[in-house]
Amino acid sequence: MKKLPHIHKVQELVYELKIRDAAHETVTISPETMMSQVRQILRSKKITAAPVVGDNKLLGIVSVEDYINWVQDGGEDVPVSQRMSRDLVTLFEDEAMVDAIKDFDRYKYYEFPVLSRSSGELIGIVTRFDVIASLLKALDIDYYRKEISQYQRTNFFQETVSESTFLTFNYTVAGGEIGRGGEVASKLKKNLSYLGIHPEVIRRVAIVTYEAEMNLIIYGGGGQVKADLDCQKITVTVSDDGPGIDDVEKVMQPGFSTAPDWIRELGFGAGMGLPNIKNNSEQLSIDSKPGKGTRLKAIILWRCGRDGEPGDESETVAVPGKDGEVADETKESVGGLISDLGAGGDA
Ligand SMILES: Nc1ncnc2c1ncn2[C@@H]1O[C@H](COP(=O)(O)OP(=O)(O)O)[C@@H](O)[C@H]1O
Ligand SMILES: [Mg+2]
Repeated sequence: MKKLPHIHKVQELVYELKIRDAAHETVTISPETMMSQVRQILRSKKITAAPVVGDNKLLGIVSVEDYINWVQDGGEDVPVSQRMSRDLVTLFEDEAMVDAIKDFDRYKYYEFPVLSRSSGELIGIVTRFDVIASLLKALDIDYYRKEISQYQRTNFFQETVSESTFLTFNYTVAGGEIGRGGEVASKLKKNLSYLGIHPEVIRRVAIVTYEAEMNLIIYGGGGQVKADLDCQKITVTVSDDGPGIDDVEKVMQPGFSTAPDWIRELGFGAGMGLPNIKNNSEQLSIDSKPGKGTRLKAIILWRCGRDGEPGDESETVAVPGKDGEVADETKESVGGLISDLGAGGDA
């Protein structure tokens, strides 16, 4: 039997997705606009080129390069229509993404105008970045759907016969070993998925643990990570005997970081770790004194749910906790994430 060639997901997607899935709206310039205004327009919109449109028709494109050429030629002020590029390669909105990719390869342009097939009017622009971003988004949605559908309908906490069940996972983390950052978060993730906990809950626990674990390695000089689970909440406690924090409110501010240069060079130190922990947990407390170390405790709420009833097709397994004191921004970020991914409710 002939072996079928392996088709990768991205390959499949570039045929499935349309140019309009990637295109973005753009500012346009009228042909009467003067060349002397072009620089300011492109600059204020942070773009490198703008389509020139008159009578609803795409007439050309004026780019930074056209502007520079115009300056080099003496800069006599004339309407854009006299200096724009008219040699255009355009795409139709209903073409497959693969056509855009071929054209990017063939023409080496940064962007293409996108036209409506029926009216011929300009509906937007597509850049290489747009193509990549729309592919990533589609992959992400696909991944999320698969993850949810594969997610085992067994639930350790639900099925364990006991009045109350508690589980604790303990880890010791060495200080300074940046290369090992994330090991605890991924071990914990594995355990939680083995227990049948909802992927969305796991994701939040993993983010919280990863960020606290990195801080433990970078600032705390190493220490302990502990995760306590029961049927309502997952409590992540991260403690060290390091230098401590003198102003907790200050370090909580998005963007605040005392990371040294060598850490920043490795791509860390954006000052978003603690804010991310806060956004992904329902409760966060940081107990710290200079010279006395730091103890961070984050609680992620969840419910075991009442899944597993025979004939119950409805999907209400171990969703993120909805009752209790749930911080508004956390509710929004989780709900937002789910609906951004297009999987809210119908997953
Ligand atoms: N365990 C810790 N011990 C001492 N200082 C810490 C600890 N965790 C965080 N900090 C302080 O809080 C700041 C902000 O942390 P975070 O929001 O994770 O951002 P980043 O790690 O990018 O600096 C750090 O730059 C550091 O000054
Ligand atoms: Mg950090």
